[in-house]
Amino acid sequence: MNIVVLCGGISSERDVSITSGTMVAKALREQGHKVVLLDAFFGCTEPYERPETLFGRAAGDELILVGEKEPELDKIWAMRRQNNDSVLGDNVLEVCRAADITFFALHGEEGENGRLQAAFDIAGIKYTGSGYLGSALAMNKTLSKKLFECSGILTPDGITVYAGQAPYADAGFPCVVKPCSGGSSIGTSIVNSRSEYDAALALAFKYERAVIVERYIKGRELTVGVIDGQAMPVVEIIPKAGFYDYRNKYQAGLTAELCPAPISDGITRHIQRLSEKVNDILMIEAYCRVDFLMDAEERLFCLEANTLPGMTPTSLIPQMASAQGKSFGELCDEIIAASLKKYR
Ligand SMILES: Nc1ncnc2c1ncn2[C@@H]1O[C@H](COP(=O)(O)OP(=O)(O)OP(=O)(O)O)[C@@H](O)[C@H]1O
Ligand SMILES: [Mg+2]
Repeated sequence: MNIVVLCGGISSERDVSITSGTMVAKALREQGHKVVLLDAFFGCTEPYERPETLFGRAAGDELILVGEKEPELDKIWAMRRQNNDSVLGDNVLEVCRAADITFFALHGEEGENGRLQAAFDIAGIKYTGSGYLGSALAMNKTLSKKLFECSGILTPDGITVYAGQAPYADAGFPCVVKPCSGGSSIGTSIVNSRSEYDAALALAFKYERAVIVERYIKGRELTVGVIDGQAMPVVEIIPKAGFYDYRNKYQAGLTAELCPAPISDGITRHIQRLSEKVNDILMIEAYCRVDFLMDAEERLFCLEANTLPGMTPTSLIPQMASAQGKSFGELCDEIIAASLKKYR
């Protein structure tokens, strides 16, 4: 197939996405596809009269690893020469239209929140992952938590605080303060006292006007992928220090990821059925990864679902696929096959 792998973009997870995109592009080439790796924000500036000629090229295979800190987006905006405010770079839609499918290796607000999916639908361009509605529901933690609650899925008690409104939401201490539509733990803090709370809220508001204040769940962190409606093996996440923050997510060796998770068969089956249910409730298509915390009483609290989960060297879905005996390339092909079902 001719495939565009779309990565980068203009969200705080830009760097993670570039690493995901590079890995996916390389793997898809090895699977025999013709692949263009394209930055969704910078687009394709070179003159091209026949976009299909781009697919013969092999470039951009070099893996750039995620740094310790997220990128500064105002600097990225300043680097672009394009003469408008579009979050999409020049010619992105044209190049994607020339492909059989676009693999969305984007993460974070722009790319994962449904807007790009809607634009592609309207333009008649095929892409991997969920459509606009599932993407939007999963991206917005206020909405997904409401849907969990009315479907009988436990989620930590939480309140959404909006910029400019009464800022103190009493969730008890410790609590977790995080942007409503964030990812990669960017802007997330574990808060132990009233004095830490204001700084945590100010940090989260740097990213978004809506912030979740949630009860802290002490327990084990578990995550499950779902492809084509079927749960994958469970991963247990154990950071060596602190919580599963940006650094612990992407710097190799800072977190142990155990797959399959050392939990009983009964809990494994239970969490897998829960993740399939979350997949359905949030109207997710093709694939996702659902994050849970399990407390001392073995109650499973769903934190969120990710509709474009990471595909970096430390990411979790590739480890689940590996436990099923599937290579990274086979996983990418499976995501494409599951995504094409949207168009039948
Ligand atoms: N209520 C909670 N109790 C304890 N820890 C929490 C809670 N909420 C979040 N965390 C910690 O913060 C991390 C990030 O939270 P969450 O998964 O909700 O946000 P995210 O930034 O969207 O993550 P992702 O990178 O998976 O997109 C979790 O992996 C967990 O370690
Ligand atoms: Mg998460």
